[in-house]
Amino acid sequence: MTTYKQFGFQNTKKMYAEALKKNYALPGYNFNNMEQLQAILSACLQTQNSVVLQVSRKAYEYMGGELISHMVYGAMQEMKAQAKKMKLKPITVALHLDHGDSYELCVSAIKNGFSSVMIDGSHFDYKENVKLTKKVVNFAHKYNVTVEGELGVLAGVEDYVSAEENIYTRPEEVENFVGKTGVDSLAIAVGTSHGAYKFKPGQHPKIRLDILRAVEKKLKNFPIVLHGSSSIPQDAIKKINQYGGKMPDAIGIDKRQVREAAKTPVCKVNIDSDSRVTMTASIRETFAKSPEAFDPRFYLGKVREDLVKMYVKKNIEVLGCGIKLK
Ligand code: G3H
Ligand code: 13P
Ligand code: ZN
Repeated sequence: MTTYKQFGFQNTKKMYAEALKKNYALPGYNFNNMEQLQAILSACLQTQNSVVLQVSRKAYEYMGGELISHMVYGAMQEMKAQAKKMKLKPITVALHLDHGDSYELCVSAIKNGFSSVMIDGSHFDYKENVKLTKKVVNFAHKYNVTVEGELGVLAGVEDYVSAEENIYTRPEEVENFVGKTGVDSLAIAVGTSHGAYKFKPGQHPKIRLDILRAVEKKLKNFPIVLHGSSSIPQDAIKKINQYGGKMPDAIGIDKRQVREAAKTPVCKVNIDSDSRVTMTASIRETFAKSPEAFDPRFYLGKVREDLVKMYVKKNIEVLGCGIKLK
């Protein structure tokens, strides 16, 4: 076992405490490959905010648990060298398992150096969710690894589970859940959803800030997490459709609503789909404009550049955690 401290990662405790104090949210960016990882670190270094690097179960299986922590370690050394060159402060990084769905997976991630895990028992009934979450917390806290739990169910597709409809978090349950399980942060369902097709065209659903406020009242200064918060940039969707793709009616959450939510005790906002559409638009455009291209460093290098721009904007304009450097 290599602990996260040996890799130089941080758990989420201090990061979230800072986010609570300063009324911003940190990004929980999912990644699946080197280019995404480098783009996230490069953007967050430029905007000078901490970041939670997230790996879903499918991503964990795709890359391999041991490769992930070593790759993140390597990317962090590059980031630190870059920081020195640019006379910037190196940023702090948490490596987080996103939507862990079993005790065994959480243990495996912790043994591979993850500093934070989510145990998502939200698809179980309340009692089962409490039992599983508490079991993970008991193991994780022995190693100072922070744990995110979830109450309520988001609509959309996540890993191997999909839900037709939102089941909003019940504020009257949160205190009991946090007290019984000992989780360090709580993901709640307030109307966001996973994936690139969050609503039907013409629908203008709102994040239920009333539920968020009711949760805030019950938990007082406790880190809340919002999943399913991609805004699905329409310029990227336009490019995808223009250059041979088929993603009609892909719609995300209004950025202004996420901005409002980020000012509350929401400490982390999860973003995955925005990276996916940005990458897909970039590759489609490159191939359409340069049909002779076959060097992955060319088209994936362009992907990396486009991702950096998207993340920088997100950190500054939506999450409020990033600063604009001169
Ligand atoms: O919340 C879920 C993430 O978008 C993970 O998606 O299971 O396809 O990696 P994935
Ligand atoms: P999006 O699909 O909105 O990017 O949500 C990602 C997420 O919640 C990862 O846990
Ligand atoms: Zn999620």
